[in-house]
Amino acid sequence: MALTVMDSSTRYGLVSRALHWGMALLFVWQFSSAAARVFLEDTAIDGFLWGTHSQVGVVLMALVVIRAVWAVMNASRRPPAVSVMAKLGHLALYGLMIAVPAIALIRQYGSGRALDVLGINLMAGGGERIEWMTNLGGLLHGELGWALLALVVGHIAMAVLHRRLTNHSIMTRMA
Ligand code: HEM
Ligand code: HEM
Repeated sequence: MALTVMDSSTRYGLVSRALHWGMALLFVWQFSSAAARVFLEDTAIDGFLWGTHSQVGVVLMALVVIRAVWAVMNASRRPPAVSVMAKLGHLALYGLMIAVPAIALIRQYGSGRALDVLGINLMAGGGERIEWMTNLGGLLHGELGWALLALVVGHIAMAVLHRRLTNHSIMTRMA
């Protein structure tokens, strides 16, 4: 069956796939920069990767908003969830994909520092420090970020193992 722009009951369409795999690549980059900050502190790799963390994070934030709107628009056509767990798992992925960068942006705003992304000035900076905003980010951004990574690992394991567990593959829906 030809790949269509919109989703169908048997397969995700072109836009959903482009968003899923494009964002998956960016998430690999994003978690690499977070990991480099922890495990390769003060090396050249850390310097390079960490320098991209905020910008790639903002791009991911923009993409997840588009993806969520697209998911709602396609809700009645996309392949039905294989189980309640799968549905809840995907919902949790969305929740964290939105919360993690949103909390970082709130912290950034509250810090009063400027934010430039791809040469565009998103936050002018110079404002007063807003304590609850920086505290919220300090408390939750990194922790929820790692929780998202754990959920992604589970998601990939379930996608790969699904065939063995149930004798039918769901990979063709997205791959
Ligand atoms: C979906 C997007 C994002 C993911 C998955 C993500 C993930 C992470 C993770 C796992 C850490 C913890 C690193 C550690 O343990 O030291 C972290 C730290 C950090 N992130 Fe992000 N991040 C994202 C977006 C952003 C954005 C948009 C910004 C800035 C506007 C940002 C700024 C920071 C900063 C300043 C830290 C260091 C302080 C801290 O640990 O909270 N991140 N990020
Ligand atoms: C090697 C990596 C990955 C593989 C093999 C994979 C595989 C799949 C498959 C087969 C589906 C369809 C499942 C179904 O319809 O029941 C799916 C859907 C989904 N995946 Fe992944 N995935 C990967 C990475 C990721 C990453 C990194 C994220 C997010 C951080 C993610 C988030 C989602 C979400 C939210 C859905 C639901 C459909 C949607 O709204 O896009 N996946 N994935």
